[in-house]
Amino acid sequence: MKVPDGISDEDAAGMMLKGMTAEYLLLRTYPVKPGDTVLYHAAAGGVGLIFGQWARKLGVTLIGTVGSAEKAELAKAHGYEHVINYSEEDFVARVKEITGGKMCEVVYDSVGKDTFPASLDCLRVRGMFVSFGQSSGPIPPFNMAILSQKGSLYATRPTLFQYIATRDELQTSANALFDVVKSGDVKIRVNQRYALADAAKAHADLEGRKTTGTTVLIP
Ligand SMILES: NC(=O)c1ccc[n+]([C@@H]2O[C@H](COP(=O)([O-])OP(=O)(O)OC[C@H]3O[C@@H](n4cnc5c(N)ncnc54)[C@H](OP(=O)(O)O)[C@@H]3O)[C@@H](O)[C@H]2O)c1
Repeated sequence: MKVPDGISDEDAAGMMLKGMTAEYLLLRTYPVKPGDTVLYHAAAGGVGLIFGQWARKLGVTLIGTVGSAEKAELAKAHGYEHVINYSEEDFVARVKEITGGKMCEVVYDSVGKDTFPASLDCLRVRGMFVSFGQSSGPIPPFNMAILSQKGSLYATRPTLFQYIATRDELQTSANALFDVVKSGDVKIRVNQRYALADAAKAHADLEGRKTTGTTVLIP
């Protein structure tokens, strides 16, 4: 993509994969509507901070989960109206409390093993489970019947590259992202910078849940 004026090289480096992921999740996998209640796991992460700011502009009630008190503050400052520390709290019980028992239209889950199948219990009847990552490990094989038992649910396992498969899709997704960043609605939080020679440390910190927002490697 050609980086438009008004977007720094560092922001561009930090935002394309994560920001286009937020775009397709919010606008295409399950197109959110004002008034929807949405749960997003790992809200203080790279995709999470972009997703939160963008979703807020789309008028949804946004619930995020995070693994620490510091991350909770960050998520609150980036669009999440309700934040649950899932390392200390039962997130299903908290979602029930927050929504007055109505639960969510959609759950976006990149945590995988540790949040499954509890994420399904955060959905209302005919809700949509979007599993787009596996930071804690892959979801084990499961019986499709669980989707009927838990409320005629929908489930999908999307991948960015199949949402930007054509030049047109890539351009449209990138343009939507450029627009929300240039307007100031979405700010890119480059919260870690590593020398390229320290790429292994960057990976270890990501794996160790030490990072927030986005990370860039400086050649
Ligand atoms: N399908 C797609 O198209 C697509 C595209 C981009 C990214 N992804 C995936 O989406 C996820 C988010 O990407 P990101 O770059 O924004 O990463 P990230 O959310 O910044 O980092 C991963 C976060 O996951 C949480 N986590 C929970 N359990 C964990 C565990 N056992 N080990 C490590 N982390 C754990 C941690 O946050 P807490 O401490 O708050 O729990 C951690 O900070 C990743 O799984 C990535 O692979 C998928």
